[in-house]
Amino acid sequence: MKRTIGIGVIGMGWMGTVHSRAYRQVSDRFQESGIQPNLVICGDEVEARGREAQERFGFARCTTDWQRVIADPDVEVVNIAAPNSMHLEIAQAAAEAGKHIFCEKPVGRNPQETAEIARVARRANVLTFVGYNYRWAPVVQYARQLILEGKLGRLTHYRGRFFAGYASNPHGVLSWRFQREFAGLGTLGDLMSHVVDMAHMIAGPIKRVVGNCETFIPQRPLATPGTGTHFSVSAGGPMGEVTNEDYVGVLVNFQNGVHGTLEACRVIQGPQCQMAFEVHGTEGAISWDFERMNEIQLYFASDDGARGGYTRTLSGPTHPSHADFNPGPGLGLGYNDLKVIEAHQFLQSVANGKQGEPGFGEALAVADVLAAIEKSWETQRWEPIQSL
Ligand SMILES: NC(=O)c1ccc[n+]([C@@H]2O[C@H](COP(=O)([O-])OP(=O)(O)OC[C@H]3O[C@@H](n4cnc5c(N)ncnc54)[C@H](O)[C@@H]3O)[C@@H](O)[C@H]2O)c1
Repeated sequence: MKRTIGIGVIGMGWMGTVHSRAYRQVSDRFQESGIQPNLVICGDEVEARGREAQERFGFARCTTDWQRVIADPDVEVVNIAAPNSMHLEIAQAAAEAGKHIFCEKPVGRNPQETAEIARVARRANVLTFVGYNYRWAPVVQYARQLILEGKLGRLTHYRGRFFAGYASNPHGVLSWRFQREFAGLGTLGDLMSHVVDMAHMIAGPIKRVVGNCETFIPQRPLATPGTGTHFSVSAGGPMGEVTNEDYVGVLVNFQNGVHGTLEACRVIQGPQCQMAFEVHGTEGAISWDFERMNEIQLYFASDDGARGGYTRTLSGPTHPSHADFNPGPGLGLGYNDLKVIEAHQFLQSVANGKQGEPGFGEALAVADVLAAIEKSWETQRWEPIQSL
């Protein structure tokens, strides 16, 4: 028998659209789960966006008042895809109403808000999930398996990075992302949150950090409210101040003795969406880059010919979730497919009544690291990771 789960989505910009499309695909891609997402209601303060999403994805209702999404009796899970400044208020209301919550990263504007959101959800005993979608690339899950099986031996080095070009054009508009009031942290929350989550999953918990930051483009053209995305460009016209950081660089020590570096930038020239890692152990190494998300570079010291360096393996049906999309190796997945896997993982946890990963617990672990990085910008010293 099918398990129907009523869904309300808040914020119908880029992510609200991606999530709605993903929910629609869950019952097709993961038929054996027996999960039937029911798109109940979507909310956006811009009426036209809500209406367009309703027509496009088949929501039964739409609203400009996000509280109506939470109050809707047919909604079992609330999907928060609004700007970071709305995460806390919406999550609080959803938890108090006993609704399960999917929240996009970075879960609030800053680590303190993440901690508060995690607290209210825990108190209300609702299930949670977070949009750290890069975890779900089949070859990344394969890398995780290899490391858990000890194929790399004892881990020694980790390098994580997210180099994005989305804001490299100085004419890119001053969307909410560049304003502390609406986004909170800049690249530290936006991109480094993904990097830290991946580092935790692949190499384990971080023990201490020291880092720095920079805002390379201090002013941007003002955006037209209710239109465009953070990829929009505008030349001429009035300018506004960028009030959070473009770049973050960090030295890290992990609890298990691994040494590493983490870097993220939103204004870099060249890379476009280079969310990547290299992990090394005493017996081998793995390298992955989202810009080539369907391949992974493997090196095992015991292999004949390993001296020749990394060998390339393509995503295939033996890797987790690949066969839910394509039957053969080399028939790759894309960004939106990772969101379908993520939506399925979340709904499966709701159907089973069991907290999945990554939930607010994992987001809080990331927030603890972000707080220590931010502190080290001021102290210019190594900062230990402390629980918020
Ligand atoms: N996991 C990822 O890869 C990824 C990628 C992009 C964004 N995100 C996250 O997703 C969230 C949304 O980002 P986005 O790029 O989709 O932003 P966006 O600006 O494209 O969309 C935000 C939407 O929220 C609406 N909104 C604003 N205030 C509202 C309110 N009070 N009530 C209802 N709707 C309101 C806006 O009108 C807009 O349609 C952010 O938290 C961001 O960090 C995650």
